[in-house]
Amino acid sequence: MALRKVRIDDDPVLRKMSKEVIKFDDRLKELANDMIETMYQEDGVGLAAPQIGILKRLTVIDVYDDSGPKILINPEIIYEEGEQFEIEGCLSVPNVTGYVRRPLIAKVKAQDLEGQSFEIIGEGLLARALCHEIDHLNGVLFIDKMEIKDDDE
Ligand code: NI
Repeated sequence: MALRKVRIDDDPVLRKMSKEVIKFDDRLKELANDMIETMYQEDGVGLAAPQIGILKRLTVIDVYDDSGPKILINPEIIYEEGEQFEIEGCLSVPNVTGYVRRPLIAKVKAQDLEGQSFEIIGEGLLARALCHEIDHLNGVLFIDKMEIKDDDE
């Protein structure tokens, strides 16, 4: 395992579209393990492959709910419900936080390291992390979606 360098700010790789993963091999496992190690090192709740300069549809998430790190390959949101409007940040946009509107509940279909499909339902922080990380795979950063919070919200 190895730590990978997190790309930040205006790095053009953060704005590119990631490609679907089609090879579920040992290199993919090593990449996922490196991403988990890097996420923990940086105290993040998620990390997407483009954040370390690799344009593959792979993300890791841990919202520290004691269920351990999650690895999601080729993730897609298949259902959303409700709304939350909370503060977000990103390892690739240091020193910036802001309010972003996200679904309260998000159901995501993804593949594991063996290529097996599974579904995950996230609520609250996990829903937000799922949406935030999938945005990274499409070259979207949370700062694109940031809004000013009115006093009555
Ligand atoms: Ni991020």
